[in-house]
Amino acid sequence: TIPVLTIDGPSGSGKGTISRLVARRLDWHYLDSGALYRAIGVAAGWADLDLDDAGALVRCTFDTEIGFQEPEDGDLRVIVNGHDATDELRTETAGAAASAIAAIPEVRAALKDRQRAFRRPPGLVADGRDMGTVIFPDAPYKVFLTASAEERAERRYKQLKDKGVSVTMDGLLREILARDARDASRTVAPLRPAIDAVHIDTTGLGIEAVVGRVLAVVAP
Ligand code: CDP
Repeated sequence: TIPVLTIDGPSGSGKGTISRLVARRLDWHYLDSGALYRAIGVAAGWADLDLDDAGALVRCTFDTEIGFQEPEDGDLRVIVNGHDATDELRTETAGAAASAIAAIPEVRAALKDRQRAFRRPPGLVADGRDMGTVIFPDAPYKVFLTASAEERAERRYKQLKDKGVSVTMDGLLREILARDARDASRTVAPLRPAIDAVHIDTTGLGIEAVVGRVLAVVAP
């Protein structure tokens, strides 16, 4: 069977960055499952759909074509219905739409097989919230990444400051705590570690140190 390394955790834990680097290091494929939910969010926006209309969003999920381009070097490009939506995917609007859409069970079910199709030789690094619990429960390698709320707020603060967005640490911290509470208590796919996941707390650790610990899970 084709090996899978699942990397789950809350936003701001560094999952995206770490997963990409680990996939590159192992020379395995990479699944950014959040990008799938964001892509549906973007497509729903293009179609001017109401985020409360679950039926329309489920149809939109079936109708939306999502393609990934994995360039040897440089960033992964995401193609939605033939358009390069990579930049639009990262917007707050797409994130908010993704979060609403991710709470619809039929949408999650419809995306199951599409996510599993990423499991191709020589291996897959799967990044998300339910990779180790729902999508690849049989994965031989599972990691759950965490970081303190303060650290995640600080990382987000730096990111936004680099982009020239003005925010306060206090506001960001409150946002992150509210999102954690929402993520843990939502009835559809609440964020929880797989029982067999290795927990890695990234608070105070640099990127290379985290990559090293994750790689050690695959090849101890
Ligand atoms: O980094 P951030 O958490 O903001 O974004 P993301 O990982 O791209 O995920 C976008 C949204 O999709 C979040 O609201 C997640 O809750 C949701 N999601 C999910 O429900 N299941 C996944 N496997 C991945 C993302």
